[in-house]
Amino acid sequence: MVKEMKKFMTLCLVALLALATLAAGCGGGGDKKDAKGDPKAEKVLRIGCNADFAPFEFQDVSGKEYQGFDMDLIRAVAKEMGYKAEIQNLNFDGLIPALEADNLDVIISGMTINDERKKKVDFSDPYYKSGLSIIVKKDDTSINKFSDLKGKKVAVQIGTTSAMEVKKIEGAEVKEFNSSADTFLELKAGGVDAVVNDRPVNDYYIMKSGVTDVRRLEELLTSEDYGIASSKKKPEMKKQIDAALKKLHDSGEYDKIFKKWFGNG
Ligand code: ARG
Repeated sequence: MVKEMKKFMTLCLVALLALATLAAGCGGGGDKKDAKGDPKAEKVLRIGCNADFAPFEFQDVSGKEYQGFDMDLIRAVAKEMGYKAEIQNLNFDGLIPALEADNLDVIISGMTINDERKKKVDFSDPYYKSGLSIIVKKDDTSINKFSDLKGKKVAVQIGTTSAMEVKKIEGAEVKEFNSSADTFLELKAGGVDAVVNDRPVNDYYIMKSGVTDVRRLEELLTSEDYGIASSKKKPEMKKQIDAALKKLHDSGEYDKIFKKWFGNG
């Protein structure tokens, strides 16, 4: 009887161990091996973005491929790091919470490095210089600079630096939208007087959308650096990203990707 019991216990232990190994393998992301513990299995980098921010991240007309400057850059970074890139599309204000919940390994989303976000995530070295600009209807001569937004209705994307900055302009009425596409639609529909968004995104919209009745104002409100975010709990990730970025700069790959999306400008 005692012998039987012992056998049973051993079996239980083996089963438990097998389960634990499986669970460890299925945890997803990071530098884990696959379920069989095969070290040669491809490691997956779970990348989050808000794919409504051309020319940085957007989906092609068929809605399948993610494309843009950030997408090319992060694919190259992942490759340098020895990961397979797996891109997910989330709301912009859901990206940092998803990273904190370990549902993502990194965020690349035209995300500006700032102190508030730095409390929650690690940022890579800056990879792109940006700033906020205004778009208005061409026939609206009453708005020529940021301070003119006083008393005006302004569309911004939720959770962005645009939303933070326009809220500081006294007397400006801020209307927040889930996507930057919606902010442009609102201006077109006459629901707002202006859109505030990152300059390259405003410029790309004017260039590509075929709209002829809007203009981008010269003044830039801020100077911002974009960074790739990773978890504070995995500081080695930031180091690997920075090393990969450096390699891409040194090899000329970064310049190639930059030229593809921004020409020489
Ligand atoms: N640079 C701005 C920020 O960090 C806007 C980024 C919005 N990005 C996006 N993919 N929608 O707040």
